Amino acid sequence: MRILVTGGAGYIGSHTCLELLHGGYDVVVVDNLCNSNPVALERVQALAGKSLTFYQGDVRDLALLRRIFQEQEIDCVIHFAGLKAVGESVSQPWRYYDNNLNTTLALTKVMEEAGRKNLIFSSSATVYTASNTMPLQETSQTGGCTNPYGWTKFMTEQILSGISHADPAWSVCLLRYFNPIGAHESGQIGEDPRGIPNNLMPYITQTAIGRRERLSIFGDDYDTPDGTGVRDYIHVVDLAKGHVAAVNYTVAHQGVEVFNLGTGKGYSVLDMVNTFQQVNQVSVPYQIVARRPGDIATCYADPEKSERMLGWKAEKDLADMCRDAWNWQCKNPQGYQA
Ligand code: NAD
Ligand code: WQD
Repeated sequence: MRILVTGGAGYIGSHTCLELLHGGYDVVVVDNLCNSNPVALERVQALAGKSLTFYQGDVRDLALLRRIFQEQEIDCVIHFAGLKAVGESVSQPWRYYDNNLNTTLALTKVMEEAGRKNLIFSSSATVYTASNTMPLQETSQTGGCTNPYGWTKFMTEQILSGISHADPAWSVCLLRYFNPIGAHESGQIGEDPRGIPNNLMPYITQTAIGRRERLSIFGDDYDTPDGTGVRDYIHVVDLAKGHVAAVNYTVAHQGVEVFNLGTGKGYSVLDMVNTFQQVNQVSVPYQIVARRPGDIATCYADPEKSERMLGWKAEKDLADMCRDAWNWQCKNPQGYQA
């Protein structure tokens, strides 16, 4: 089976390409490298001992997409390509709506033309309304997003659901990721954010290695066991395996289906810092600062539907996530740049 992976050079995409190659799938990647490095794909191929086909270009480019679908017999598409920085989306909304919506519109147009209608989309737990009770189920309320990034995920879910309802030949999986962290156990591929990290784990690893002076913990007065925010952190390799399960589901079904990809367990920011320090025997200096605008106290998944229907379940624990994130950081102190 041949899978087209948009955004395949990125953090989650690179780990997914590796799991696909391990699973015996043929992999075709399209990525404009706006937030990634081609070295990631070289390392994926070295780890797999197999090659993939790479097209460098923009997913909004209809001519490029048409060429790919002419040259490759694509059985299923995994659509990762998108911009993902929440704060940046507030200051550059047009860029986020343009990139995240027009990639999907161009891709589905060309898939329709080519008669290739199996699609998996990278959605996010951010589509859930903040007032839901935990754990979040796929049927929990969505909408009321607090930033343009979240709206692009919400709108893309609407677009793909509409397309799928209009033409039952489509098979669409909307995968709502919780908080992916960690890296492949080899330490060869991992998360390589540009500039100051927005997310917790890369901030922790960069602090531990001395690139940042100290971690700022955003608030310790939430209604949680220790007052810091609680999230459902999931190992990126588990997440990647969830995509392989979703490919098998998508090609065997029709219609649109939503799945949470999380562990079902919530950990606080202090749990993360303490586990990281313990597992890796390294210190992470931190200070408590004000809450970050837009953050909620607690967010975690009910992953039961994914286990039941995809036959997939996260297997790695917090210690694995902390160890693998640190291994990647130590082996690549400056990310792929070095
Ligand atoms: P990433 O930035 O590492 O990967 C995205 C990739 O898409 C990059 O390689 C980038 O160069 C490419 N890209 C972006 N716009 C493109 C375009 N127009 N044409 C071609 N390539 C383009 O991000 P990631 O963490 O791997 O996330 C992958 C997807 O998962 C994104 O859609 C993101 O919104 C979604 N997601 C991520 C998280 C997370 O915490 N990392 C959580 C939920 C959802
Ligand atoms: C986790 C916890 C912070 C950084 C974001 C997006 C979401 C999804 C995943 C794409 C929170 C705290 C963080 C720091 C801290 N991405 N924190 N100091 O906010 O749950 O989700 O990434 O879809 O859409 O919003 O993840 O890693 O930023 O924060 O104290 O320097 O760590 O307050 O409690 P978040 P995060």
